This record gives sequence, structure tokens and C-alpha cells, in this order.
Amino acid sequence: MVLSAGDKSNVKAAFGKIGGQAEEYGAETLERMFAAYPQTKTYFPHFDLGKDSAQVKAHGKKVAAALVEAANNIDDIAGALSKLSDLHAQKLRVDPVNFKLLGQCFLVVVASRNPSLLTPEVHASLDKFLCAVGTVLTAKYR
Ligand code: HEM
Repeated sequence: MVLSAGDKSNVKAAFGKIGGQAEEYGAETLERMFAAYPQTKTYFPHFDLGKDSAQVKAHGKKVAAALVEAANNIDDIAGALSKLSDLHAQKLRVDPVNFKLLGQCFLVVVASRNPSLLTPEVHASLDKFLCAVGTVLTAKYR
């Protein structure tokens, strides 16, 4: 999935607008993922997944920070997320299908919290970006 120059600037602009709310976007993305796709909960048996869970909030903050890091290094997502790629592929062994689910939930959060941001073009660019992040995080399975 190749991001064009236009996609890259759309993604950077979108994260610029999300700004300091990224943590909340991350937490709501996880809440939605666990609610809409309960099979994803199997990776988090050690978490409290109840409503307003502090663990989910804290994890959402980490996921959001990783997405911001990827957007800030959009020409080298593999380099920026190298350690996370080792973690997800070699230690956590998250089935790659789940990355699409998380990406979908993130898009729904953007649509719900900031509808004017999500023009069809920005939607397409963010979708490509989230696919690229998922590809990087599932690149090291062996
Ligand atoms: C851990 C990011 C997708 C399951 C993490 C961490 C980050 C992260 C930043 C924390 C790493 C650390 O503490 O050093 C992301 C990003 C994703 C993604 C950016 C996709 C855009 C997923 C998916 C699943 C998953 C789809 C499973 C459904 C986990 C688990 C942990 C983890 C189980 C360890 C949690 C813990 O014990 O603290 N991820 N992740 N991740 N991720 Fe992901």
C-alpha cells in the first residue's frame, strides 16, 4: 500500500487536527474494538476491560502515541515502529486480521468525534496509513 504525497500530507494534517486529543481517540478506539469485535479481547486477559477502565485508557494512550509517531515518520514507518513490530509479531503474536479491526475502529472514532475532518479523501488516506501501520506491525512473523 503506497501512500502518495497527497496521502502523507492528509495524514499529517489529520493528526495535527486531532492534536492533544489523540489519547482519547486511542482509548475510544480500543473500547470500540473490544465492543464490536469481542474476539480481540482474548489478547488482553490480564486487563480490566470494563467501562472507564484505567488500563484501557493507559493503553489507548500508548497506541495513539505510536500512531502519532508513525505519522511523524511517515516516510519510514517501519523504522519508527521497529520495536513494536518485534513485539506484536514475535511476542504477542496478534493475528494480522485484528489490525484491520483496530484501524476500522480508529476511523469510526475520527468520524464520530470530528466528522468534518473525515472527507472522502482524508478517509482514504487514513485508511491507507492504518493499513501501512498494520503491515509493519505484522511484518516479522516467522
Ligand atoms: C501493546 C501499539 C494493534 C495487542 C502495544 C503497545 C503499543 C501498541 C504502543 C505498548 C508496547 C509497550 O508497552 O512497549 C499498537 C498499534 C496497533 C496495535 C499502533 C495498530 C495500529 C494491536 C492489536 C492487538 C494488539 C490489533 C490485538 C487485538 C496488544 C497487546 C499488547 C500491545 C496484547 C500488550 C499489552 C500489555 O500487556 O500492556 N501495542 N498495537 N495490538 N498490543 Fe498493540
